[in-house]
Parts: sequence; C-alpha cells; structure tokens
Amino acid sequence: MSHDLATHRSSKIDDTATAVRILVVEDDRDQRRLVGAILESQGYQVSTAAELESARGALASGAVDLVLSDWKLPDGNGTELLTLIREQHPETAFIMVTAYGTIARAVEAIRLGADDYLAKPFERQALLLSLEKVLKSRRLEDENRRLTEALTERDRLVDLVGRAPCMQRLYQRVEKLAGTEATVLLTGESGTGKELAARALHALSRRADRAFVAVNCAAIPEGLVESELFGVEKGAFTGADRGRPGRLESADGGTLFLDEIGELPLLMQPKLLRALQEGRITRVGDQREREVNLRIIAATNRDLAQEVEEGRFREDLYYRLNVVPLNMPPLRDRRDDIPLLVDHFARRATRRHGVSVDPFSGAVMKRLLDHPWPGNVRELGNTVERLVLLAEDGRVSVDDLPAERESRQDGGFKVPPEGLSWEQHEKDCLRQALEHTAGNRTRAAKLLSLPYKAFLYRLEKYSLA
Ligand SMILES: Nc1ncnc2c1ncn2[C@@H]1O[C@H](COP(=O)(O)OP(=O)(O)OP(=O)(O)O)[C@@H](O)[C@H]1O
Ligand SMILES: [Mg+2]
Repeated sequence: MSHDLATHRSSKIDDTATAVRILVVEDDRDQRRLVGAILESQGYQVSTAAELESARGALASGAVDLVLSDWKLPDGNGTELLTLIREQHPETAFIMVTAYGTIARAVEAIRLGADDYLAKPFERQALLLSLEKVLKSRRLEDENRRLTEALTERDRLVDLVGRAPCMQRLYQRVEKLAGTEATVLLTGESGTGKELAARALHALSRRADRAFVAVNCAAIPEGLVESELFGVEKGAFTGADRGRPGRLESADGGTLFLDEIGELPLLMQPKLLRALQEGRITRVGDQREREVNLRIIAATNRDLAQEVEEGRFREDLYYRLNVVPLNMPPLRDRRDDIPLLVDHFARRATRRHGVSVDPFSGAVMKRLLDHPWPGNVRELGNTVERLVLLAEDGRVSVDDLPAERESRQDGGFKVPPEGLSWEQHEKDCLRQALEHTAGNRTRAAKLLSLPYKAFLYRLEKYSLA
C-alpha cells in the first residue's frame, strides 16, 4: 500500500452501503419484514433469522458485517448471540434491540461489546442513524488497523517513524551501530527524535534486556550532578545515612544515555571522562573504585564543536563521545513524512484518550504540511494530539490549529501602544512557560529558546525558582 495523502483521505468516500451485509434477528414476523424492507431500501444487503439457532447458522455459513438482534428470542436471547459473535466473529458489528423499559439489558449488552442498542419501538430514522454511526466507527477501526499494518519495518525503526530517504539511511546506520559497542553522539534540533534513536540503539543491541538509563544533564541542579552520576557512600555528608548508587552504576551491563550532554557543568567533565575511559567509578565520599560496564550514547542539540571552541566543553570529552556522530534530520527536510507522522500521532492520541476521529480533512492536512514546524516532530505530535482532543463529533477542525504567523521575523508580538513594563513582561513569560510545561524547567527553557542556565538565572532574578 502506498502511504500518501491520497490514501489517507480516501477512506470516507467509499461510503456505499451496498456492500454491507446485515443479519436481522427478530422473532416477530411483521417487525422482521418491516426492518428488512427499511434496510433494503437503503441499499443494505439483508438476511433474516427468526431465532437463535438459524442466526448461528447464518453466521457460520457466510460473512456478516453487522447483526441487528432482538434481545428476546424463542430459543434464547440476544446476549448469547452477542457473546458468540464477540468470541468467533470479532469483526462483526452488533446492535442490540431491547424492549421498552429494559434499559439494564442494553447497558449489559454494551458492556459485553455491543456497538450500540435500540429501544423498541424505534423510528426508522433512529435505526438508520444507529447503523450509520456503528458502521462508520467500524470503518475507522479497520482503517486504523490497515494503517498500522502498513507501517512496515521499512517505515519505522522501533518507535521512530518516517520513510523519507534520510530516515531510511538513519535506520540503516542505527541497525548497524546497534550491533556494536560504539559510543554514539546523537545531534539534531530539539524534538527530532534523539531520545527515540537512543532507545532504538539500545533495544536492538545485545544489551536490550539490561538497563537503559537516561540522564538528562540539563535537569540536574549543578550541586547534585556528582552524586547523581556517581552515587554517594554512606556518611559522605549529612543526610547520606544510606549509600546510594549513581546513574552510571545503575546502568552497569546496559546502556547509559547522557542526554543534553552539552549542559554538563565543565567541572564535572573530567570525572565523567575518567569514568568512561577506565570503566570505573567512585561514589562521592568513597575510597573504593567500582567497575562498570557501560555502552554510552550521548545527545545534544548544541553544536559541541563550537562549545569546545568557546571553552564551554572539554575537547577530550568531546572526542571520547563523538566516536560515531549521528545527526537526526529536522522535520522540514522530510515533509513527505508529515502524513505518516500525523497518522501515527492521531492513532496514539485516540488510543490514549479513548476517542475516535475521522481521517483528517484535506484542509487540515494542507495546513499541517505548510507549517514550518520549528519544534520538529515533538511539536507536530503535540498539535495532532490537541486536534484529536478538540475534535467535535469526531471531526478535526482547521480552526483548532494555531493561527499561521504572517512573518516569522518579528515573532508576532506587538508592544501595546501604551507601552509595557519589561520586567513584568519577562516575569510573565517565565511563569507562563512553566505553566505550559507543568513546571518542567528544561522544556520551559526550550519554549522560550533560552539556554537552560540563562533560564535558571532569570528564574532566580525574579524569585520564581
Ligand atoms: N521520527 C519520529 N517518529 C515518531 N515520533 C517521533 C519521531 N521523532 C520524534 N518523535 C516524538 O517527538 C517527541 C520528541 O522526541 P525526542 O524526545 O526523542 O526528541 P529529542 O530530539 O530528544 O528532543 P530534545 O532535544 O528536545 O530533547 C517524542 O514524543 C517522540 O515520540
Ligand atoms: Mg531529548
């Protein structure tokens, strides 16, 4: 299957009812005929059964897309039929018809997996609406299943999605490197999947069943870096009443992922280098050395060579980490992957939030394709999730997309004619960024395009820390 925009959009167009086969199970002859006639007039292909026994026979002898069954049947009830269908024909949709005043049975039917229920007596319109709703959501499920199956090995590596040539080359390198113990330095802009690539390198390696320990160097307060990385020995300082292994020790035998390595304090760099070179660590306050066996993967969205040049990163550590560089392509260099990623994130969001949505319309998809995505895949993923959550009646609306900015040169912010207090404005920005990220400082700093330290400095300046 080709996975392009056209196939993505086509699913709702072939809405013809002719192919849909419905089995009506109803013991009352007049009612059975009436319902059958209504359905046939809409182009559905109808077969009927007057009791449980013949319904079972009909199901066994041919494919049925949907069963509309009365609860009360001469030789049993609709619940029995529903149970059989859920066990043996899970792809068949089921609508339970219950008598007026027996709502408990309808509730029970939904719990057992019925797609909908109708209370007797029902109007023609209610019947047709229910059918349409059920068939539509079934079709979406099929579509999702098809798309999931369509995301073949070729289109993804562990959790990385993308079939653009640059991604294919990346997968090949990741697969090749996963079989080695080589230290890999992942570079690339924020939100390009560096962490996913690190996890893929681990998952495909011989160490896959051992620990994958991720350390976010930007998120550890400077004073705690050493004890976090190397652990503390009992009694090393007040409060250290129990010894505690550091992150390197926890990763022993597995993979240590040093994320945002560019943020590691300069003072800590020689100690880390020594540990990586010698495979030995010393806990804070300990004399003993302990051996650790680590596979190292590091990531940064900074230009580390530049950082070395400017004296913010040690050259020797840089060379120790940059054995094999792997650069994650930004989303703007692989726009063709956007529809594929949209499917991926829409499916993830519907699963996560237990909702279903129609395939994205051409207008929405066009806007997604035209957006510059400065935040890369992460930003796309968040946008799609928001669209799914804001969808009404399963329809994703273009109005829920952030307004397109006219010019990216001025950020769109306008100083009000009456002026503003710069300090108050800065404080508001900091506070709102923290709110947006639920207090995650690393991400809040990114949201404001500030280096982490500059962000912290400002938090302290305004006593927001
Ligand atoms: N190729 C991809 N396929 C699927 N999901 C992706 C891909 N790239 C990124 N993502 C998603 O985008 C988000 C960010 O990815 P990840 O954390 O790996 O990026 P990163 O490069 O480490 O970013 P940062 O530098 O900001 O830490 C995650 O939710 C991840 O699942
Ligand atoms: Mg990351």
